[in-house]
Amino acid sequence: MEENNKITEEESDEFIDNEMDKKFDLSIDELQKRKIDNKRIKKIDQSKKRATIESVFDERTIFTLNKLLVNGPLENVEGIISAGKEANVYLAYDMDRNEVAIKIYKIDSNTSKWMRNYIIGDPRFKKIPRNVSKVIYLWASKEYKNLKRAYKVGLNVPKPIYIKDNLLIMEYIGFESIPAPILKDIKDPKDPINLMNEILAFIKKLYQNAKLVHGDLSEFNILYHNQKPVIIDISQAVSIQHPKAEVYLARDINNIFNFFKKLGLDTPDPKDFYYEVINIDA
Ligand SMILES: Nc1ncnc2c1ncn2[C@@H]1O[C@H](COP(=O)(O)OP(=O)(O)OP(=O)(O)O)[C@@H](O)[C@H]1O
Ligand SMILES: [Mg+2]
Repeated sequence: MEENNKITEEESDEFIDNEMDKKFDLSIDELQKRKIDNKRIKKIDQSKKRATIESVFDERTIFTLNKLLVNGPLENVEGIISAGKEANVYLAYDMDRNEVAIKIYKIDSNTSKWMRNYIIGDPRFKKIPRNVSKVIYLWASKEYKNLKRAYKVGLNVPKPIYIKDNLLIMEYIGFESIPAPILKDIKDPKDPINLMNEILAFIKKLYQNAKLVHGDLSEFNILYHNQKPVIIDISQAVSIQHPKAEVYLARDINNIFNFFKKLGLDTPDPKDFYYEVINIDA
């Protein structure tokens, strides 16, 4: 059955107010971002595009990327957002010229070794492949699945769009070619108490509704967009049944409390929050 899309006048006013608020927020965010990091996207020179990507990735990855560019869903890769040890993240465009982020995991045997520790013990992954690239593919699909699970329960994570081997396409968080900054670079957020509460609500909902623990949550893996936190880098997230889930949960909570303490906030006892998340009266 089709949903009734008609909106009342009141709803319409509310919509306009929200849009106005968004515009206002956008300008503050834009200014803040420009100040932090002007032109973070380094445009890839079209003539050197192939060479730039080829020098970082193996043949198979280039082949898969080319396939996504020829057959969709990608139109072109615009520039690099982040070059890391395990993965590079690029700004790309889909066939409708919408911005998307593409995270490409590097096929690396050292990386695959520590990845195994997070996969072993997760009831969702029964068979652990021996082959290095297969472990990395599994890892990328784990990030995709975790994003899907979090997104489905309404959490603020980039919408997962597509996964193929070690290439993950997701919603791009940013304004045009300026990607959202990580929380670590925001020295003076507008409403830190509210921001902290939103991140704590994320941890709780991720545990109680999506049945996951992020496992690497900190100011480095939270983007600040429209004055809201967007949680990223969820590949290592484990099921709450994982034997180390509670250790990871405690670590995530401590990281967040420490960050806000450093900002000068009077934070509550992290232990109380921990018990609240796992739903046990202390
Ligand atoms: N959806 C996105 N939209 C915009 N920027 C993104 C997005 N996802 C990631 N980024 C940017 O890319 C950076 C790296 O992403 P992420 O944290 O997921 O990778 P990583 O696993 O930490 O990589 P590595 O460990 O190799 O550095 C982020 O800090 C952020 O700046
Ligand atoms: Mg990260």
